[in-house]
Amino acid sequence: MITREKVRPKKVVLEIGSGHAPAPFKKDGVAISHDVAEYIAGDISEDNIEIAQEDLEDLKRERVGDGFEKMRVVQLDARDLKLPDNSVDEVLCNNLVTVIKFPVEMAMDATEKKLLHAESLGKALKEFFRVLKKDGILKISETIDPAAFLQYYGSVANFVDMVSSVSDLEFVSSVGEEQVSSGVDRASLSIIFKK
Ligand SMILES: C[S@@+](CC[C@H](N)C(=O)[O-])C[C@H]1O[C@@H](n2cnc3c(N)ncnc32)[C@H](O)[C@@H]1O
Repeated sequence: MITREKVRPKKVVLEIGSGHAPAPFKKDGVAISHDVAEYIAGDISEDNIEIAQEDLEDLKRERVGDGFEKMRVVQLDARDLKLPDNSVDEVLCNNLVTVIKFPVEMAMDATEKKLLHAESLGKALKEFFRVLKKDGILKISETIDPAAFLQYYGSVANFVDMVSSVSDLEFVSSVGEEQVSSGVDRASLSIIFKK
């Protein structure tokens, strides 16, 4: 008897602020899974993109079977993504959101920098909402200095509320909240939102 497996549509993943080494490039980077149709890694820095594009070509040869042929590396500004509405299943941000290095003048004082950061982050979060499909997810993963994070946002809950209110994305889950309040030097925080 022939059985037919339910064919699920494959995912489009956007990693934004991927630097010169998008997550799957890392030593412990896992393969791009079978359920991914396309993996777009984007960063604002031309230099980072150039390095990543060269490394991607090497990886396509060296890690055959790890799905790198489905990946493209592009220059993208999180605040103005040149991607259609409702076109992405997952947006991944690793160490982008809390340290987002939008054009900040050295001469600016801390208050000006904070305002510019908040404005830029707001634009980026709205863009993530726009490009995500319904039920698509935003995963924010940050390695942070808890003291600086708490000084800036007050608490993880405040940060979550800010993301939700700015973007309309719905909070799903978080990992690492207790690390942030435990007084360690570096904490790993991972938060998932859904459209
Ligand atoms: C701290 S690095 C993180 C790199 C990498 N994701 C990681 O975890 O190692 C932050 C990256 O975000 C990029 N970035 C900053 N502002 C951006 C923006 N508006 N749009 C896209 N990328 C941006 C920077 O160029 C930088 O590569």
